[in-house]
Amino acid sequence: MDPLTARWRPEFPGLDRHIYLNTCSLGQLSQRSVAAMHRFMDLWADLGASAWYEIWLGEVAEARARFARLIHAQPHEVALLPSVSVALSVIGSSLDYSQRPQVVVTEMDFPTVAYPWLARAREGVQVRFLPAPDGVHVPLEAFQEAIGPETALVATTHVFFTSGWIQDLRAIARLAHAAGALCLVDGYQAVGQIQVDVKAAEVDIYIGGGLKWLLGGPGAVFMYVREELIPQLEPTTTGWFATQEMFRFDPRSFQWAQDARRFEPGTPALAAVFAANAGMSIVEQIGVPAIRARTQALVADLVARLREAGLQPRMPEDPERHAGIVMVPVADPPGAVQALRRGQIIVDHRPGALRISPYFYNTEAENQALVDTLSALERRP
Ligand SMILES: Cc1ncc(COP(=O)(O)O)c(C=O)c1O
Repeated sequence: MDPLTARWRPEFPGLDRHIYLNTCSLGQLSQRSVAAMHRFMDLWADLGASAWYEIWLGEVAEARARFARLIHAQPHEVALLPSVSVALSVIGSSLDYSQRPQVVVTEMDFPTVAYPWLARAREGVQVRFLPAPDGVHVPLEAFQEAIGPETALVATTHVFFTSGWIQDLRAIARLAHAAGALCLVDGYQAVGQIQVDVKAAEVDIYIGGGLKWLLGGPGAVFMYVREELIPQLEPTTTGWFATQEMFRFDPRSFQWAQDARRFEPGTPALAAVFAANAGMSIVEQIGVPAIRARTQALVADLVARLREAGLQPRMPEDPERHAGIVMVPVADPPGAVQALRRGQIIVDHRPGALRISPYFYNTEAENQALVDTLSALERRP
């Protein structure tokens, strides 16, 4: 077995119960995250509310700092939020659409990327969807053609959730900036499994979180906002955590915090923060380059085995533009997911195709077991 995989498999006991090839929906639960959540509960029982000031706010600060390191940002540029949707809604409430009513998204983005702007139709916001003719990627020319003086924001994705395509963020950010627009990126399918450098990418806003490749479970999402941009954004989807002096408890005075906390409306879900911090610490310990190399090897292995069995994955041709998501068109995707589940193999489906996502803790033998079961299913009359 690959040494990295062999070293880390025992950390994830769920891997002994089934073949798990679905990290792009939900990363595996680590023993480290379990221990962290137990620590949270012990502190709750032992210290009650005094755990807040003494320890819990420290855990939140550590989680922000760890996420910042993973994307090459600074901790004060990172806000903690409960979901990508909330993060997008907070940004949606911070923009002025009077001179620039347009928001550019792509049809490959996760639907929640478009919704906060579709929901603002009565404020005059217009959403422009860029097509993906091959169902895998959106050509840069489409961004170039769509972005203009009426564009307030380009909101798109780092790794597409139904193709694994890695977008060229710097090229997109430059097109947005050349037209005076901002560039927001949903990196939920990217951080952890591929290198992210928000400064090199020149993006304004970047969202990631624990759920998938950071191994942290649901409930902790992090949003980077470029330092210089923070004071220019005044969210109206807000609350007491966003204020400069939240512990003054003065309902009459409202002033946004100077750092990215201004995007945090209220009390964070602490159990989720403990789990996410532990998950991120594993990613940090292994190192993203090693994770990426192992995941790329597993993806190449899976694709070769699928093709050998006569199945035809739909994916980017260039492995450097392809992250750990492999789509396989099949006759009945939900039926195939259920049949595989009965064989203790967990994958997912999206319209028209199975979605398979190996991560560093998977093995080539698991790839083969999936391909054997799937090809038997597809051969059935
Ligand atoms: C790319 C991407 N963005 C966002 C989401 C979900 O967003 P939220 O945290 O609002 O549920 C998903 C899936 O869970 C996703 O794959």
